[in-house]
Amino acid sequence: MLPKVSLLLLLVAALIGCGASPAAAFEEPYVFPPTRPEPYPMERRTYRSFAELADLLASNDTLVDPTGAVPPEDIPPPTPLTCGRRLPGTAHRVRCAAGPPLGGYVLEPPQPATASIVFLHGFTDAPWFYATFLRSALTAAPELFASVRVAAPLAPVYRNQSVFGERPSDFFAWFDAAAFLSTTLERLTDGADVATAEAALRADTAVDDRLGLFLSTRRVEAVIARERGALRTGGARGGGRVLLVGHSLGAAMATHIALVSRARLDGVIPMQGFVPAARTLLASKEAYNSGERRYAMELLGGGADRIVPAPVVEASARIVKDLLPAAARVKYTVQAGVSHSNFFSPGPEVKAVVGVLRRFLE
Ligand SMILES: *[C@@H]1O[C@H](CO)[C@@H](O)[C@H](O)[C@H]1NC(C)=O
Ligand SMILES: *[C@@H]1O[C@H](CO)[C@@H](O)[C@H](O)[C@H]1NC(C)=O
Repeated sequence: MLPKVSLLLLLVAALIGCGASPAAAFEEPYVFPPTRPEPYPMERRTYRSFAELADLLASNDTLVDPTGAVPPEDIPPPTPLTCGRRLPGTAHRVRCAAGPPLGGYVLEPPQPATASIVFLHGFTDAPWFYATFLRSALTAAPELFASVRVAAPLAPVYRNQSVFGERPSDFFAWFDAAAFLSTTLERLTDGADVATAEAALRADTAVDDRLGLFLSTRRVEAVIARERGALRTGGARGGGRVLLVGHSLGAAMATHIALVSRARLDGVIPMQGFVPAARTLLASKEAYNSGERRYAMELLGGGADRIVPAPVVEASARIVKDLLPAAARVKYTVQAGVSHSNFFSPGPEVKAVVGVLRRFLE
């Protein structure tokens, strides 16, 4: 039986070889609703019923990348999840929670939780395949994660999005990044250096979906607060560590939250993402640069990433440092040879990511 084919679209895969949509420059300040001619993609749906969530997480579809940007050997195999059962190959149990704020699942560790990782997935129509990454990470270091929870909310759905001229599909995205992707980032996928990337991010003229960023920020803050509560009731003395980790568009979201939120965090690790809405933040001084937050932030780039190239990540780290000089220790590291997706499956790449998490957890 042929597996049902599902579109895999990691962040910005849509841009590669597309070149179609003309760059829309906006000189006017952002107003809501925006004044651009095309309809604003407000049609997002954040929560689904328990049955829909359970179905989604149980998906066992083989993924394909219609763009060809992700080599077939890098495409992760599916890891179907069953609510209430173990994550296959691990001692963690899948707890599904369809309602707010999580709208996703928690991986409960075998031992009382002393730490939690809030994990934000990337831009995709198949968010469930991130279970493969989580499984690879947990199995790479069972002792490290034996008392670590993982909370994985699913992003709001933008209905019937036609990306790449493929048949319309539902895409999960923390905010609408289409304008940014088709203007700023598109110019940076072809070997731009760090200075060029930084200038482009600072001068970014794309319309920021500030409402989407705001709503997802508030929701993730609520997830973070819940996780902190779960650690306290889990018996951790004085509360344990809560980390915010994201990949791709989820990393962009995590970066934004680190900049604007006062949520109590013990570390933020955006993997292969970027700083969204930099121009607005730089202009408005909206970031909370107080000394209250003393966490470290480590932005990870992949040396072989052609979707969000490492210089974009490094440039984002520079901007974040600028915005948060007093609040956080900001570091950029690059994992040599890592593409946008090849750390999903067991191997040296996922071990490198686990090595970074270990520094934050131990
Ligand atoms: C997922 O699909 C593969 C290949 O079709 C199959 O071997 C495997 O048993 C399926 N897993 C589950 C949990 O259904
Ligand atoms: C989905 O989008 C396609 C074109 O992109 C359109 O023809 C179709 O009517 C849309 N379907 C729904 C249910 O909105």
